[in-house]
Amino acid sequence: MATHFYTASSLDGFIATDDHSLDWLLSQDIDQDGPMAYQGFERGIGALAMGASTYEWVMRHEHGAWGYAQPTWVFTHRDLERPEVGDVRFVQGEVAAAHATMIDAAADKDVWVVGGGELAGQFADAGLLDEVWVQFAPLTLGSGAPLLPRALALELLEVARNRSFLCGRYRVVKDGDFRA
Ligand SMILES: NC(=O)c1ccc[n+]([C@@H]2O[C@H](COP(=O)([O-])OP(=O)(O)OC[C@H]3O[C@@H](n4cnc5c(N)ncnc54)[C@H](OP(=O)(O)O)[C@@H]3O)[C@@H](O)[C@H]2O)c1
Repeated sequence: MATHFYTASSLDGFIATDDHSLDWLLSQDIDQDGPMAYQGFERGIGALAMGASTYEWVMRHEHGAWGYAQPTWVFTHRDLERPEVGDVRFVQGEVAAAHATMIDAAADKDVWVVGGGELAGQFADAGLLDEVWVQFAPLTLGSGAPLLPRALALELLEVARNRSFLCGRYRVVKDGDFRA
């Protein structure tokens, strides 16, 4: 059982614009059944974690409907609106305690850290992030929400092209002597 950060990014390492737009991403060409695409990845996922901005984006984008069947832990310090259906659990503070309950809930499946990058960094800080999957879109944004604002050593496990996207899957090297 593993914990993955699976996301799309601009080539210069941003996963959303400064004003949290993903229009640049949603307009790209991708084969949803193709290599490293969401459909195949999501089948192996038993629990989700996301930060407040990501949750708010999903709620805005889906107009309050909840698109995930798996239980989802939302990290926030605020009292955010809940979807009408869906298993959403608001938590705050250290990620390790919540991660233990995610692992239990996921049973034999994996955990997906949806984003943002700083939350994925908190899982990495706690030694709980196993893999990073990135679909790089063919553009730069110049600024925005960072992909993964940490110094981490990664081992490239898999690479693929999916239409417009350059896709990489990496293992987080936890015991190396990497220095940034
Ligand atoms: N390109 C993609 O595939 C992709 C994937 C995922 C997300 N995104 C987008 O990327 C952007 C990410 O936004 P973001 O960088 O602001 O990150 P985020 O993780 O979505 O949200 C950050 C917020 O989460 C809360 N938070 C984080 N860690 C916490 C903790 N340990 N305890 C309690 N609260 C915690 C804080 O909000 P409060 O203190 O205000 O509660 C913090 O300001 C969003 O626009 C999202 O839609 C893109």
